[in-house]
Amino acid sequence: MRTLIKGGTVLSPAGGVAADVLVEDERVAAVTAPGLFDTADTVLDATGKYVLPGGIDAHTHMEMPFGGTFSSDTFATGTTAAAWGGTTTIIDFAVQAKGTSLASTLDKWHEKADGNCAVDYGFHMIVSDVNDSTLKEMESCVDAGVSSFKMFMAYPGVFYSTDGEILRAMRKATETGSMIMMHAENGIAIDQLVAQALAEGKGDPVQHGLTRPSALEGEATSRAITLARVTGSPLYIVHLSAAEALSAVAAARDAGQNVFAETCPQYLYLSIEDLARPDFEGAKYVASPPLREKKHQADLWRGLRTNDLSVVSTDHCPFCFKDQKELGRGDFSKIPNGIPGVEHRMDLLHQGVVAGEISLGRWVEACSTTPARMFGLYPRKGVIAPGADADIVIYDPAATQTLSAETHHMAVDYSAYEGFELTGKVETVLSRGKVVVSPSGFSGGTGHGRFLSRDLCQYLN
Ligand code: URP
Ligand code: ZN
Ligand code: ZN
Ligand code: ZN
Repeated sequence: MRTLIKGGTVLSPAGGVAADVLVEDERVAAVTAPGLFDTADTVLDATGKYVLPGGIDAHTHMEMPFGGTFSSDTFATGTTAAAWGGTTTIIDFAVQAKGTSLASTLDKWHEKADGNCAVDYGFHMIVSDVNDSTLKEMESCVDAGVSSFKMFMAYPGVFYSTDGEILRAMRKATETGSMIMMHAENGIAIDQLVAQALAEGKGDPVQHGLTRPSALEGEATSRAITLARVTGSPLYIVHLSAAEALSAVAAARDAGQNVFAETCPQYLYLSIEDLARPDFEGAKYVASPPLREKKHQADLWRGLRTNDLSVVSTDHCPFCFKDQKELGRGDFSKIPNGIPGVEHRMDLLHQGVVAGEISLGRWVEACSTTPARMFGLYPRKGVIAPGADADIVIYDPAATQTLSAETHHMAVDYSAYEGFELTGKVETVLSRGKVVVSPSGFSGGTGHGRFLSRDLCQYLN
C-alpha cells in the first residue's frame, strides 16, 4: 500500500523544502525531489500546503481522577480530538495514588487506553508516594517504556513531595538515565494564601490566580533546578507560565545544566483577565499554574525563540463547566484544575508563525521534533524521513477557522478559545500511514493507536 503526498512544502526544524513524500504501509519510504514518483495507490495533492511531522503532545490527562471527578475526555474522545488537530502522538500521565504501586498504576492506565486510542500514545508516571519500593519500581517503569516521572512541589496532601523525597527520586533518575518532570509551584506557601483568602470570604475563581503568585513558581523552579544540580539528574519543568521561572531555567541552561521546560498555549494566549470573568465564567480558566498577567506572554514567546522553552504541550485536562467546574462555586479551591486544548495546539502555535513570533521551523520543532527527542521517540516520531512512522499532517496555511465548543471534538462543554479566529487549518492527517482525518471527515478508529514504549531522553547536553 503506497501513498504519495506530492507538491507540498515539507517542514522540519530547519524550515521548509519543496519535496514529495512516499509512504509505504505504516512508514515513510522516501522524501524525494518533486515529481520523481507519480504513481501510488493513493495520491494526495499538497500543492500550496505544508507537510509536517504529526504533532506530539507530551502532556495530556485523559480520564484523570481529580477532586472526586474525572477529566471529561476518555482516551477515545481525547485522541480523536487530537487527531483532528494534527496531533498524532500523546503522552499521558499515569497517576500513582498514595499507597499503591507504580506497576498497578501502569496496569490501570493500560486498561483505560489500550484498544481505545485513535493515535499512538505513551505514558509518563506521576510519583506521589516516594518510598523504597516506589524508587525500586522506577527501574521497571523504564524497562516498560515509561522513562519519565512527574513530581509535584504543589498540592500538599495529594501529589506533593518534600524536597527530600524529590532528591531521592532524582538520584534514582540519575541512576536509570530517566527524566524528572516537575510541577514547580510552592504548594506549602500557596495553601496558606488559599486558606487566608477563603477565611476573608474571597471565593471567586480569580482568587485561584491571586493566591498562586508567579514568584512562588519562580522560587519552586529554582529549588527544583538546585536539587537536580546536586543529584546530576536531568529536569524538565512542565507547564511553565511565569517570567521568574523562565529566568531560572535560562540561567541553568546557560550554565550547561540539563534543564528543559515546556509552556502551553493557554499561557501564551490567555491571562488572569479570563480568570476574572464574571458569573463564575472564570472557572473555565482555572488550571495550575494559573493564567498570569499578560506581561508574561512576551517573555514566553522569547523563550520559545531562544529554546529556553523547548516544547509546547497542552496540559489538556478538560472538566465540563456545567457539571464539574460547578463543584467549586463559592470556593475556588474546589474547582477541578485544568483547561482543554489537545485539539488546538498546532493551530494556536501556528498563529505564532503568522504573527512573526516564531519561525516555521520552531513551530515544528517545539510541537513535534523536540518532544520526540525529549521523550525517547525519535526518529520513529517527530520527523519526516525514511523509516519514520508515517505520522504526517497536510496543513493549509491560508485556510481560516473560528474555534468554538460547537465545532470542536473534545468531550467538554466549553472552549477556552471560544471565538478565536485563526489562520491555518489541518487538512489531512496520517497516523502510521493511515488517513485518519481528511476534508471528508474522520476516517480513523479508536483501536488504531498503539502504545509507544519509549527510550531514554535523546536531548541531553
Ligand atoms: O491544572 C492542571 N494543570 N491540571 C492538571 C494537573 C497538572 O498539574 O498538570
Ligand atoms: Zn502539573
Ligand atoms: Zn498536567
Ligand atoms: Zn460533562
